[in-house]
Amino acid sequence: MPQSYVIDELISAKAIAARIEALARDIRAAYHDTDKLVVVGLLRGSFVFIADLVRELDLPVEVDFLEASSYGDGMESSREVRILKDLRGEIAGRDVLLVEDIVDTGFTLKHVIALMQTRSPKKLSTIALLDKPSRREVDVKADWTGFEIPDEFVVGYGIDYAQRNRNLPYIGKVRFTGESGT
Ligand code: PRP
Repeated sequence: MPQSYVIDELISAKAIAARIEALARDIRAAYHDTDKLVVVGLLRGSFVFIADLVRELDLPVEVDFLEASSYGDGMESSREVRILKDLRGEIAGRDVLLVEDIVDTGFTLKHVIALMQTRSPKKLSTIALLDKPSRREVDVKADWTGFEIPDEFVVGYGIDYAQRNRNLPYIGKVRFTGESGT
């Protein structure tokens, strides 16, 4: 059972939308000559971000998903990345954009990039909505980052705490209140 907590807004829905518009402009420029961009969302956390991002991308896109997990329901990375669901499509010779919600220790992104590279995409880029550089344990950085954030426990806009709060329209910071919750 998670401890009881309150959520303070860290990044508003409006700020997220504005940042996604700017990121989409950069991605469009980087892939302006693509015949089709395969946008790969890393489940589950990226489902809201990828939905908003692809709608801002004025490019021919295909959407696919990969599910990786290293946290389970806990707050600590297991440092072992498990692929729970693989892509439906082939990415060999394709332009690929990997979409992550948050880069924390970096284990997930590093593992998934290495996996994608074994499949010989034409060009692979990565985007993360949030980055916590102070938590990094392995050397990896997304090509595009929405917001660098301090080492706070965040939820919302796809990100959960024990599978809750993914549906918040903003990014919030969890503040534990110390009482035992339900
Ligand atoms: C979270 C998050 C990232 C990863 C980042 O996934 O969505 O994919 O952890 O952490 P890292 O940089 O320390 O590897 P999680 O395993 O919680 O699965 P979820 O996306 O289904 O919530």
